[in-house]
Amino acid sequence: MPDSVLRGSHIVLGVAGGVAAYKAASLCRLFVKAGAEVEVVLTLEACEFIRPLTFTALTGFPAHTQLFGASDPVPHTRLGQSADLLVVAPTTAHLLARAAHGLADDLLSNVLLATRAPVVFALAMHTEMWEQSVVQRNLRQVRADGIKVIEPGVGELVGGDVGSGRLAEPEKIFAFCEGIFSEETEKKQACSKGSNADAGEERTSAQAATALLCRGSSEVAGDLAGRNILVTAGGTREPVDAVRFLGNRSSGKMGHVIAGEALRRGAHVTLVATCVLASLPGVEFVRVETAEEMAAAVFSRFAEMDVVVMAAAVADFRPAAPADRKLKKEAGLSRIELVPTVDILKTLGERKKTQFLVGFAAETEQVCENGAKKVRSKNLDLLVANLVGVTDSGFGTDTNRAWFCSADGSVQDLGLLLKTELSVRICDRIADGMCRR
Ligand SMILES: Cc1cc2nc3c(=O)[nH]c(=O)nc-3n(C[C@H](O)[C@H](O)[C@H](O)COP(=O)(O)O)c2cc1C
Repeated sequence: MPDSVLRGSHIVLGVAGGVAAYKAASLCRLFVKAGAEVEVVLTLEACEFIRPLTFTALTGFPAHTQLFGASDPVPHTRLGQSADLLVVAPTTAHLLARAAHGLADDLLSNVLLATRAPVVFALAMHTEMWEQSVVQRNLRQVRADGIKVIEPGVGELVGGDVGSGRLAEPEKIFAFCEGIFSEETEKKQACSKGSNADAGEERTSAQAATALLCRGSSEVAGDLAGRNILVTAGGTREPVDAVRFLGNRSSGKMGHVIAGEALRRGAHVTLVATCVLASLPGVEFVRVETAEEMAAAVFSRFAEMDVVVMAAAVADFRPAAPADRKLKKEAGLSRIELVPTVDILKTLGERKKTQFLVGFAAETEQVCENGAKKVRSKNLDLLVANLVGVTDSGFGTDTNRAWFCSADGSVQDLGLLLKTELSVRICDRIADGMCRR
C-alpha cells in the first residue's frame, strides 16, 4: 500500500448494529495496513452482527463494547481524547438519532461526545428508513454540528431489495477518511499561521477564511449567506424527432449536491436542471431540457448572480431540424444533420463582470492539460476537471476523481472524493473567492 497520511494516527472505529457491520472488518484492515493504530468500539447491537474478537485480532487491541465494568474505568474519555479521527461505519438510523440529539447511553455515543477529533459517519440502512423525514432531519443536524457524512449508495440491500441505503465500499470510506485527515492537518497548520499573523502581520483573506473554518462548522454554515448562486445540473436532451433525443450519461448528482451545500451555507440558490433528484426546500428550481432552454434560463438570470456553477453536461451539437413526428423505421435510415449549440460557459465568461464563474470539464484523457486550457479560454475563476469513462468517477457515480484548475494557472489534485465532499471543497473555493472581491 502506498504511504498514507493516516500512518501513525490513532483511529477510533465505531461499529453500529446493521448488517453492513461485516464491512467494518475490511475497513479496519485498510486502516491497520495504512499504518494507523486502530481501536474499535462496537454497540451492543453491532455484536449481534459481528464479534468483537474479529476486531481484537485485526487491530491487536481489545475491542470495546462496555461503558461500565471494563478494565479501563473511564473508557469513553480516553478513547475520545486520544483519537485523531473517529469513524463510525456503519452508522445506523438509531446511532444517527442519538448523535443528532447528544444522547449518551452507551460507550460509542459517549465517545462521540468526548472527542474533539474530526468525526465521519458512513450511513447504511434500508431505503424506507433512509428516506424518512426524521432521518433526513437528523442528518442535517449532524452535518450542521460538523460531522462529515458519507451517504449510502444505491445497490442491493438485505432481503434482496434494491435501493439507496447501502454502505459505501470500505475503499471509498478509507479514501474519504484520508481526505478529511489531510484537510484537517492543513487547517491546523493554516490556523497556527493565521494566529501568528494575528500577532502582528496583516492577514490575507484566505487566512481569515481559514481561521473562520477552524473556529467551527456552525460559522462555516453562513459563509455564503446572502449570495445569489445559480447551479446547473444534468445532461441536456436534444430532440431528434417527437420521441427520440441525443443525450449524455450525466445524472445531475453533482449539480444537486452543490446546490444543497450552497443552500446549507446560506446562499439563495437557483438550480437550472434537466432532472429532479431530490427535493431541496428553499432552492428555486428551473426545469429545462435542451441546451437552448438552459442557455435562456441562465442568461436571463446572470446579471443578478454572484456565482454561477455550470455542472450540467450541455450538448455541443443538436440535430438541425428535429422531426415533429416519430421517424418511422420503414422509411429507412436518414442522415441527421448536427449544428453546434450555444457555448453557455464561454458566453458567461465574455459577459461576466464581478461574478465568480465555475465550470466543469469531463475528460477521458489529459484531464489537467485540457482543464488548464479551458479555464483560460473561457475566462473562468475555477474549473473542476473530472475523469469520465471509468467506474468510480464521472457520470452517475457517487464519487469523482477531480482536479481544481484555477485562473492563476495552478492545478490542485483532489484525488477521489465523494461528490458530497467535492461540493464542500467547491463551496470553500467560492466562499474564499467571494472574500477576495
Ligand atoms: C437483520 C437486521 C438488520 C438491520 N440493519 C440495519 C441497518 O442496516 N441500518 C440501521 O440503521 N438499522 C438496522 N437494523 C436495526 C438496528 O439494528 C437497530 O435500530 C438497533 O437498535 C441499532 O442499534 P445501534 O445503533 O446502537 O447499533 C437492523 C436490524 C436487523 C434485525
